[in-house]
Amino acid sequence: MSERLTIRRPDDWHLHFRDGDVMREVVPYTARQFARAIVMPNLTPPVTTAALAAAYRERILAAVPEGGVFTPLMTCYLTDSTDADDLARGAAEGVFTAAKLYPANATTNSAAGVSNVEKIYPVLARMEAEDIVLCIHGEVTDHHVDVFDREKEFIDRHLRRIVESFPKLRVVFEHITTSDAVDFVLEAGPQVGATITPQHLHINRNAMLVGGIQPHNYCLPVAKRESHRLALRKAATSGSPKFFLGTDSAPHLKKDKESACGCAGIFGAPHALESYLTVFDEEGALDRFEGFASLHGPAFYKLPVNEDTVTLERAEVAVPPVLAVTGEAIVPFHAGTTLGWRFVG
Ligand code: NCD
Ligand code: ZN
Repeated sequence: MSERLTIRRPDDWHLHFRDGDVMREVVPYTARQFARAIVMPNLTPPVTTAALAAAYRERILAAVPEGGVFTPLMTCYLTDSTDADDLARGAAEGVFTAAKLYPANATTNSAAGVSNVEKIYPVLARMEAEDIVLCIHGEVTDHHVDVFDREKEFIDRHLRRIVESFPKLRVVFEHITTSDAVDFVLEAGPQVGATITPQHLHINRNAMLVGGIQPHNYCLPVAKRESHRLALRKAATSGSPKFFLGTDSAPHLKKDKESACGCAGIFGAPHALESYLTVFDEEGALDRFEGFASLHGPAFYKLPVNEDTVTLERAEVAVPPVLAVTGEAIVPFHAGTTLGWRFVG
């Protein structure tokens, strides 16, 4: 059994940095492990134009610690009134790497999202023509649809049609949580990929609901039953280039999670690589980690792979119960537990 693993430096293909003081304090957790990250645009107000994205990118770059090299890849928050010309110009100028489709009210700060997917078909047609990647939060929001079925329902109602209507559009099905999503992605053409988070590889819905409500294991899409978790582990460790790393690290203050209406989101950035690698080790797939973490994402996004490397070693890492961010507490994923791999650098 190898005790050390060195791979090309990975990227995080789905990440929330927030803004302001919180952003300044969480950027270093990501920048020490990853070369690039797809930065989600669900700020208040959302990042809906190239000008807003360019300014946000500058704020992120200013938060990268001295001597660090990190490239934020910006996304455009799609709304019912997205200006396709601005999006296309932003992409051509290298400001936008992708655009993000949030069904309105599907998740944190998505109220300004798309009210009806068909309304933005002209924008999707333009994205297909300009070869701009579409990142999708794939859940329906209808009140009568059970929260555990919302991803599957999105595939059946919307995603299949999007992929059929725009056959050349590159689509990332973000943070997939079900075997239905795995099957859909595998059956689709090479233009469809998916990110998989560490939490959906580690926990099922019991972690959220058994032994008292566990708000720190609550994120969207919610963790599903065990059979889905196992399907995700199989997909992530399969070597298929369709699946790649995206933490969906989404910091919320401890007090906002431990509330009568707790926020959705898990702060996975601090121990992200150690968390993922523990899964690959458990699955006997250490040799496939580099593909998932460092190769499949760049290939999908048509970006070069990173030239430098990172090393992890088999050693216990104690994850702190809380981290201080802006003088407030944030509970990281795996808080108070031990992981089997340590990020060396
Ligand atoms: C994310 C957030 O807090 O911004 N929350 C989450 O539960 N994943 C939004 C998202 O990606 O759905
Ligand atoms: Zn997210």
